[in-house]
Amino acid sequence: MKGIVLAGGTGSRLFPATRAISKQLLPVFDKPMIYYPLTTLMMMGVRDILIISTPHDLPLFQRVLGDGRQWGVSLGFATQDAPRGLADAYRVGRDFVAGEPSALILGDNLFFGHGLVERLRHARAALTGATLFAYRVSDPERYGVLEFDARERAIGIEEKPAQPKSDWAVTGLYLYDGKASEYAASLAPSARGELEITDLNRLYLERGEANVERLGRGFAWLDTGTHDSLHEASAFVKAIQHRQGLVIASPEEVAFSQGFIDAAQLEKLGREIGSSEYGRYLIDLAQSHRA
Ligand code: G1P
Repeated sequence: MKGIVLAGGTGSRLFPATRAISKQLLPVFDKPMIYYPLTTLMMMGVRDILIISTPHDLPLFQRVLGDGRQWGVSLGFATQDAPRGLADAYRVGRDFVAGEPSALILGDNLFFGHGLVERLRHARAALTGATLFAYRVSDPERYGVLEFDARERAIGIEEKPAQPKSDWAVTGLYLYDGKASEYAASLAPSARGELEITDLNRLYLERGEANVERLGRGFAWLDTGTHDSLHEASAFVKAIQHRQGLVIASPEEVAFSQGFIDAAQLEKLGREIGSSEYGRYLIDLAQSHRA
């Protein structure tokens, strides 16, 4: 399975904080935002990943992430020269995806919860058509929203509806079979001139090829679309990390736990950034496994 992290956009909703730097490079507590979606893909066992961003920001992402070899993954980079919408990822990434199944994750989405990895891995293994992950929110009008029939089957999906038909938002993690690029190419731009991911998802839904997985209350799905939600995401990560003494969404740790790198490699990565608490955490982790 291929992976795409979409980290484009102008970040205008967070101006002036994002005037000079991409939103997905801002920190969520102690690490760049993109670490969170990237590690979600890595935890699913996805190792061939394309990062899509603006021509201005892409070199910065390359500086932060490198080519992924240090984490046992392969990271490619591609530009989206104008904000053409989320489904445009499948035009930009068409050659990369090459008709294979893929996971698309938005660069500002943060998933957390016990059993999440197993859920995602299972969804990956069982994938036919598209799999969407739904999450109950208090403000569905900000998102893509699902409609269900009396038997709780998804029958509709709307983007940012004024009158949402449920409280279930479609999260920014999408699994697609090999037809995503072909379907995306058939979409017409919406009223705001973008290729909407919701239109791609509706296409799958109307063909009876979409599965909806609800993530229940034991999971956290946070986004960072406003200063409030960004701050809440940071506070959430800080609280859990502080309480447990474990770091959330460390690519180094995930690479190690997935067996992409060994303890010696992990320790080396820790030493490279050893002067920070994050670096010391990696060194301790590596040493406790070698001991
Ligand atoms: C986008 C999608 C929306 C989805 C959301 C998840 O909205 O258009 O359907 O629910 O991501 O984060 P945006 O955050 O770009 O406004």
